[in-house]
This record gives sequence, C-alpha cells and structure tokens, in this order.
Amino acid sequence: MALAPVHADLLALARSARQHAHAPYSGFAVGAAVRTRDGRHFLGCNVENAAYGLCNCAERTALFAAIAAGCQPGDFVALAVVADTPEPVSPCGACRQVMSELCAADMPVILGSLGVASSQTSVGALLPDAFTLQAPAR
Ligand code: THU
Repeated sequence: MALAPVHADLLALARSARQHAHAPYSGFAVGAAVRTRDGRHFLGCNVENAAYGLCNCAERTALFAAIAAGCQPGDFVALAVVADTPEPVSPCGACRQVMSELCAADMPVILGSLGVASSQTSVGALLPDAFTLQAPAR
C-alpha cells in the first residue's frame, strides 16, 4: 500500500538527514526523522566513533535531539528511518527500546530504503513486551 503523503514527507526528511551520517567504520549511512504533534520535525543520522560501542543510531539521534529541544515523551506522532538496504531498514533493538520509552505503542514507524518501497509498522509491533521501569517516588 502506498504511504500517506504525510509519511512520504517524513521519509524524505529522513533521507536528507542520512546525508549527514558519520559512518567511516561501517560505511552504512542511516537517516531518521521524527514528527511532533505540533508539526515540528527533528532529524538524526548515525554517528560512529573509533570506540565502536559509542556509535549512535539515526533513530536515537533524532529522538534525543527532540528531547534536548524540550519535547516530552508522548509528543511524537511518527518516525521514519531510511538506509541503503535491499529491504526497508529494520531498527536495531536499542532503538526499539528507546522508541518504546518515548513514543506511544501505536505510533507509526516508517521503514525505508533508497531502492524499494517503504513499509509501515508501529512502535509496539517492533518491540512487544518492552522493558519498563517504574520511576521511584521522590
Ligand atoms: N544503525 C542505525 O543508525 N540505525 C539502526 O537501526 C541500525 C544501525 C547504524 C549504527 C551503525 O552506525 C551502522 O548503522 C551499522 O550498524
């Protein structure tokens, strides 16, 4: 099924963010974009480091940029991610866990690639039974 135009626009933003990827070690550039309820967009790319464990994925970069700009969990309405893959790129487990903390389970996630048609899923479908932690009362 074709993407809704609003999601196609988000995917285009993710594609543009991918151009900023810092991926000298994997050579695998990823872009992401998240849309807020009030119509703002935050973009992210993967940022790698010679100490490999410090690499940050595009999806988390976008969500962290939004939080750093003052967004709250629940402010997000859709996220798109794109890479140059034979099938629409599938977010890693760490990004799924971060999405599940910051976004509603039914929030659409658009998976894209440069070549083939994109697909649509949701935060809850990507990570059923996500780990949660009750914050202690202060
Ligand atoms: N990467 C992402 O940016 N998002 C994902 O969901 C999967 C992997 C990045 C991390 C690393 O820079 C490169 O892709 C190869 O794993």
